[in-house]
Amino acid sequence: MLQGKEVLLGVTGGIAAYKSVLLLRELIKEGANVHVIMTKSAQNFVAPLTFQTLSGNQVTTEIFTLFSSSKIGHISLADRADLLVIAPATANIIGKIANGIADDFLTTMVMATRVPVLFAPAMNTNMWASPVVQANISRLKSMGYNFMEPAEGELACGTTGRGKLADVDEIMEDIKTLLSPNDLAGEKILITAGPTEEAIDPVRCITNRSSGKMGYNLAMVARRRGAEVTLISGPSCLPVPCGLPTIHCTTALEMERIIHENLDNATMVIMAAAVADFRPAEKSEKKIKRLGDHCLDLEPNPDILAGLGKIKGKRFLVGFAAETNDLVANAREKINRKNLDMIVANNVSTCGAGFCCDTNIIKIIDRDGTIYDFPQMSKEQVAEVILDHVVASRKKDGKEQ
Ligand code: PMT
Repeated sequence: MLQGKEVLLGVTGGIAAYKSVLLLRELIKEGANVHVIMTKSAQNFVAPLTFQTLSGNQVTTEIFTLFSSSKIGHISLADRADLLVIAPATANIIGKIANGIADDFLTTMVMATRVPVLFAPAMNTNMWASPVVQANISRLKSMGYNFMEPAEGELACGTTGRGKLADVDEIMEDIKTLLSPNDLAGEKILITAGPTEEAIDPVRCITNRSSGKMGYNLAMVARRRGAEVTLISGPSCLPVPCGLPTIHCTTALEMERIIHENLDNATMVIMAAAVADFRPAEKSEKKIKRLGDHCLDLEPNPDILAGLGKIKGKRFLVGFAAETNDLVANAREKINRKNLDMIVANNVSTCGAGFCCDTNIIKIIDRDGTIYDFPQMSKEQVAEVILDHVVASRKKDGKEQ
């Protein structure tokens, strides 16, 4: 996701500095080129060599470090970067920057750069609550600097409360948000994910192998790109994306009701959920015993998406087609029958595509029948290309109206 991005990672002197190593690894895993800048006190917690070895780049510790170019070190790095993240950010660094002090490489860099700066604070609970720190943060926020909320928990100093460095996953999410285009701003999107479960008796159900990964990735990427997202999720083991409004449901009927309760304000619906087409005609209140002959009577669930197609209005409707054969023909039939703007077809019997796995292989089919083929990608990348396509279609629609 961060291929080709230049990220500056500022590390300051707190015990959480060791977590910056994990952050660095994640950044590199996602393809970023990372330059680490350490303050003097940070070097008491982690050796620069650790960051240098992992990043493959010289770690900057001195204000008068020169780079191979003729430009002064901090200007050269500041010019090249896409983003500067300071993790952990101590009360001291926040105070210095808020008050215009630039007496080491990191503080000088913050003054010199025009790219987004993200602070991930970590400090003792009382320090975090101190009016001085909070005033400095408000001042920096008002100038356009970005802040993460520290987490609550047991701190290295023995106290419990707010002040722990935010989780690396959350820092990564904020970094990706700052580096994403804001091209879905103004869109209010309902995204469904996961399977539905239709109970047979208290211990058995009809369901499918959807994990929710495709829908959850779509929700996270759409939020990064500025959309107001509500995730409507069937039963899934995935953690709820931090701060993302999520409504849980179990059955197809519940999913349908929740969608309709939230439909009024929605400008778009993306149905990635694998909705059960049938449910048992009757649910046994007791566990059905093994003995005897059994026959399961089924009745159809509503086709939620087809129902939305009938009351579509100006909403943009995206469906998925999970197929095992005749992918394009079946997807085309669904786009027309359900009155969709776009359908994402995946052959769920192909290795590396469809249910459960971390990757998918998709074809996007437009209303006019045009087919766009994509290679195997992570579900996060698939979410990006689907949303690229949505943005392009929305722009085209806007021009045509
Ligand atoms: O969750 P993962 O493990 O990441 O797997 C992702 C996925 C394979 C579930 C996803 O990529 C996918 O294909 N989702 C759609 C699954 C599906 O139900 O496809 P379908 O072809 O049966 O249905 C077509 C469309 O109608 C879908 O958008 C579906 O949400 C919707 N539908 C289906 C049945 C029904 N009763 N009501 C519906 O609204």
